[in-house]
Amino acid sequence: MTTPGHAKFTPPQDLGPAPQRKMLVTSALPYANGDIHLGHLVEYIQTDIWVRFQKMRGHEVHYVCADDTHGTPVMLRAESQGISPETLIDRVWQEHTRDFAAFGVAFDHYYSTHSPENQALANQIYLALRNSGFIEKRSIEQMYDPERSMFLPDRFIKGICPRCKAPDQYGDSCEACGATYSPTDLIDARSVVSGAKPIRKISDHYFFKLSDPRCSRFLRQWALLDDRLQVEARNKLKEWLGDSETFADNDQTSNSDSQTTDDMQAKGSKLADWDISRDAPYFGFEIPDAPGKYFYVWLDAPIGYYASFKRYASDIGLDFDAFTKPDSPWEQYHFIGKDILYFHTLFWPAMLHFSGFRAPSNVFAHGFLTVDGQKMSKSRGTFINAKSYIDQGLNPEWLRYYFAAKLNASMEDIDLNLDDFIARVNADLVGKLVNIAARCSGFLIKKFDGCLGKTDRAAMAEFAKSWCGAETLAQHYEHREYGRAMREVMALCDAVNQYIDQNKPWELAKLADQQDRLQVVCSTAIRAFAQLMRMLQPILPATSKLALDRLSAAERQWSSIDFDSDGDLPPGHRMEAFQHLITRIDRKQVDALLEANRSDQQAQQHSEAKKTQWISIDDFASLDLRLGRILEAAPVEGSDKLLKLIIDLGESKPRTIFSGIKASIPPERLVGKLTAVVANLAPRKMKFGISEGMLLSAADETGKVPGMFVLEAEVGAVPGMKIR
Ligand code: 2FM
Ligand code: ZN
Repeated sequence: MTTPGHAKFTPPQDLGPAPQRKMLVTSALPYANGDIHLGHLVEYIQTDIWVRFQKMRGHEVHYVCADDTHGTPVMLRAESQGISPETLIDRVWQEHTRDFAAFGVAFDHYYSTHSPENQALANQIYLALRNSGFIEKRSIEQMYDPERSMFLPDRFIKGICPRCKAPDQYGDSCEACGATYSPTDLIDARSVVSGAKPIRKISDHYFFKLSDPRCSRFLRQWALLDDRLQVEARNKLKEWLGDSETFADNDQTSNSDSQTTDDMQAKGSKLADWDISRDAPYFGFEIPDAPGKYFYVWLDAPIGYYASFKRYASDIGLDFDAFTKPDSPWEQYHFIGKDILYFHTLFWPAMLHFSGFRAPSNVFAHGFLTVDGQKMSKSRGTFINAKSYIDQGLNPEWLRYYFAAKLNASMEDIDLNLDDFIARVNADLVGKLVNIAARCSGFLIKKFDGCLGKTDRAAMAEFAKSWCGAETLAQHYEHREYGRAMREVMALCDAVNQYIDQNKPWELAKLADQQDRLQVVCSTAIRAFAQLMRMLQPILPATSKLALDRLSAAERQWSSIDFDSDGDLPPGHRMEAFQHLITRIDRKQVDALLEANRSDQQAQQHSEAKKTQWISIDDFASLDLRLGRILEAAPVEGSDKLLKLIIDLGESKPRTIFSGIKASIPPERLVGKLTAVVANLAPRKMKFGISEGMLLSAADETGKVPGMFVLEAEVGAVPGMKIR
């Protein structure tokens, strides 16, 4: 059975360079309200490796991504920083693109979901779904913050867990005991935004009817009959579509939008409808014909893949429709984390299919990153920010290699074991790979003016036996089995190093009659090294480029990996000396990285604790700020902090004010200044007398560096003037 308009998917069998394939490839769109960290990078590096590999094979690949900009968290974060959401997302876009570039993640286009293309596509898809009867309006009751006049997402409600009574738990689940519940079950629930007690309020919402039998028919065909997904994803789909007996495992692949999963599981075989609208205030796109209603961020996020591609296609003159029409012969792949499988294997294909687009060729999900076997932790410093990794001077290609060595096509979590990271990078990249170049290139440069000699064909034939060969290696890349690919590459490195060990160029160099042999041995090893660098281009793009440039190797496509011919490195070809291809990691660098992330976290906590507390205009009006002339200033005996000031506030008699600015300003510099004073601060009885107000001063957070500064009024102002 084939669903109309949907051709059966045939996974690519011919993995060779011809015929040319055309592909649209995406990574999940990162939220615009946070930094890129190493957890994110697993996915972007995984995708980037795949894309670079496909491009090397000569295929036409378009790798697009964007910032996921909409939703309540972005709106509230912008507000707390006193900036518009647009300003916030522009700033984050700069930071994200900087971080991705630093790690060699080479998108063809990186856009934003807050774009005209995305709005137009979201409207188009929504209206097409509505016209085909997939949209339904319903009234639902939700938690509402009466102080802020806004509906509250579950994550913005906190209270006591109804099961284990742990305090400070989110509205959807308890981090202490793992219970899931509805926010109305929370004990003493509070709005995270204002602290108010949420009330229940009814509002109209728009739903995408995933429960429509057309959806399950289509999804069953797309996901199960056409047999395209990873086995774990397939099992999930069976469960969601009600095709399996068990609903057993309560794992991390369930969807983060609790409503949908819970409803669906309650109904067993039936997919639950999906609430795609949110009420104002919301940062997003307003729904056509529904004033005050906005598309839920998850509706327009995946559409952002197409919007990014659309913009890019129009920029470079590519036919967007040819890739996205229902019978497109081209491929479309989405790399994602396993936590968002639900959105990408149910909603997204269904939305596309029923609005006149093609469905994805496949969705590739990966597991989560753990560090030293544990969830990344801010307090341990293992929640490592991409920028801090770069700022601490660690080489991004160390991480690319380590992730590659750990990655496979499954959804298993991958662990960044820091000791293993150091050991493996040092042993493999430095001890094996770069060592080949280090042991042989110097002789060629010094003794033969950088000229390559002949190849030891027998040795090359031996090398070829030590590993799986270029075509099998290509298949490992194709199937995202990068760990296997790296084992093969390292086996080849071992063979080349063994050859060097056996032939001892350092001894040949000392023997006058062995100079030809020396050149042959070194040239053979260097040619093998060039092949290694070619096959590692997807993983180590910068190092490979550096190495191949120094070798003046022109050929960089996959097809140029060849142990039978000298290709573009014939005898007589000249190379230049390698410099700093890859250095060793020192444990101290990793410790410094953890420390930097720990302190970063403390700084962040500090700044969050003192995040803007808005006051009303009435609060401000309650302050009586006035100009006062300092008539006298003298140290207070017995206090190393205080000065006693006599200040004229234009009243019948001057006031006495004690101020803790002795360490910053000598008393004689204060006398005569016309400065700012809080005139209605209740008089305070101090050890040295009564203080009748407060002198205002400017200082950094600590008040110590570089000291405190008093404010001064311009000429013309007089004591007693009100400051407002
Ligand atoms: O989970 C997330 O981080 C989302 N921002 C991913 C969106 S992927 C796509 F659907 F846009
Ligand atoms: Zn609990």
